Amino acid sequence: MVLPPSVTKITEEGRNPRFRIKDTMSETATATAPAPAASGHTSKYTRNAPYTSRVLVNQRLTGPESEKETIHIEMELEDGMHYTPGDAVGIIPTNRIEAVEGVLKALNYTGDERVLDHYKNEISFEEALTRHLAIGKLARGAVNQYAKLCGENVPAGLKELLGADNKAKAEEYTWGREFVDLITEFPGIITAPQQLFNVLQRLTPRMYSIASSIAMHPNQVHTVIRVIRYNTHGAERQGVCSGNMAERAPVGGTMPVFLHENNAFRLPENTDAPVIMIGPGTGIAPFRAFLEERAVTGQKGKNWVIFGEQRSVSDFLYKDEFEEWQQSGVLNLFHTAFSRDQQKKVYVQDRMTENAAELYKWLEEGAYFYVCGDASRMAKDVETALLDAIAKGQDSTPEAAQEYLTAMKKAKRYQRDVY
Ligand SMILES: Cc1cc2nc3c(=O)[nH]c(=O)nc-3n(C[C@H](O)[C@H](O)[C@H](O)COP(=O)(O)OP(=O)(O)OC[C@H]3O[C@@H](n4cnc5c(N)ncnc54)[C@H](O)[C@@H]3O)c2cc1C
Ligand SMILES: NC(=O)c1ccc[n+]([C@@H]2O[C@H](COP(=O)([O-])OP(=O)(O)OC[C@H]3O[C@@H](n4cnc5c(N)ncnc54)[C@H](OP(=O)(O)O)[C@@H]3O)[C@@H](O)[C@H]2O)c1
Repeated sequence: MVLPPSVTKITEEGRNPRFRIKDTMSETATATAPAPAASGHTSKYTRNAPYTSRVLVNQRLTGPESEKETIHIEMELEDGMHYTPGDAVGIIPTNRIEAVEGVLKALNYTGDERVLDHYKNEISFEEALTRHLAIGKLARGAVNQYAKLCGENVPAGLKELLGADNKAKAEEYTWGREFVDLITEFPGIITAPQQLFNVLQRLTPRMYSIASSIAMHPNQVHTVIRVIRYNTHGAERQGVCSGNMAERAPVGGTMPVFLHENNAFRLPENTDAPVIMIGPGTGIAPFRAFLEERAVTGQKGKNWVIFGEQRSVSDFLYKDEFEEWQQSGVLNLFHTAFSRDQQKKVYVQDRMTENAAELYKWLEEGAYFYVCGDASRMAKDVETALLDAIAKGQDSTPEAAQEYLTAMKKAKRYQRDVY
């Protein structure tokens, strides 16, 4: 097959065993495996009553030179737990021991003190801090509630962070800080461990786009997680859940999980329809699920993926799998945009622009267009590039392109899963 110039052709030398993901394709999964039910969960497990899932694989996808730590996770599911590509999995994290100990030390408690949890069950203060209270990134609400404990005697520095007039200042203060920083800077306010239930929010589950097809991996769910680590105000910090998955979710260990349906992000019902998938970074997750699903259920529709990351040598997530999908014909077009491989940044939308004529041709053939990943900038820039490609393709005005896109949205041919 002759590939267009900007299509990445992965050579044998380009293969890097470091990135090799254990082939977990079930022996029972074949190209003729039946399609799973279109949607609907039969699971009895919820965020309040999660399933205790065993971790089967926990593997770093990015190379040691990478600025990012992105991990591939495979977890086991019970018979009857079902999901559809496009869904998410909720993971219920715990706070790391260092964070719990930091709070105990700052408040001068041992952790053995007894408190009542949100359901009025008696537990130790240490368990409350580990499993129930959001002691990670500091919320503005927690600052306000903390100040309320002072009555009339709010310390001057804390007072400056309160009220609508001081919103910007409070946001600046909370950025990069955790609860421990607040109680260290303004000590002596907590007089009983139970008060923390009024100050702090609950520790909530985090959602992750599912990166697998259950038809290909029965009783499994896969995810791709970017681990959040940063150094602020003189301390090493990490995201609660991504840090939990990176450091405290070893193979054989367990994590509480539940499945979360997302009917707004679905493969076309018409299995012959072409599909265009724009997935930079961890945004690639649902498209791995889509490709697996289309491959294992023998769907005939064409597939085009545009993947972006920082550097090809260290950040090419699922490189081997993309190569295999290209070779097997599941993936008809594949472009990469490695932003930092050259002087000038190149993003997924640049590949769309370079291939605008082909993009419009696919749309005219009835292609479904999907975007996943960063909501703040990428999703908007991709939409702009899509509108430009449409306007160019039909030689029309921006308004006419917008109408075309609106019609696509109505027909569910433009779907986004951005966060
Ligand atoms: C539908 C959906 C699907 C998602 N899919 C995925 C996915 O497939 N993969 C994935 O990795 N994530 C995904 N996410 C994001 C994921 O849910 C979590 O939000 C993410 O993993 C962070 O959670 P955490 O507990 O590790 O970090 P938290 O403890 O929640 O901390 C994150 C916060 O840390 C702060 N922070 C981060 N970096 C810095 C910094 N440099 N300096 C100062 N503060 C900083 C910010 O306030 C940020 O919001 C998805 C989210 C949604 C809603
Ligand atoms: N809630 C959280 O704290 C949390 C946790 C994990 C992930 N996320 C979010 O999840 C998304 C994915 O994160 P990720 O690290 O996997 O990937 P990412 O940050 O989206 O980066 C993937 C690629 O997209 C590029 N990029 C940057 N700006 C872009 C733009 N405007 N348009 C198109 N591409 C752009 C990046 O280039 P450069 O980096 O070279 O500019 C990189 O090459 C991001 O929104 C990230 O913030 C959030």
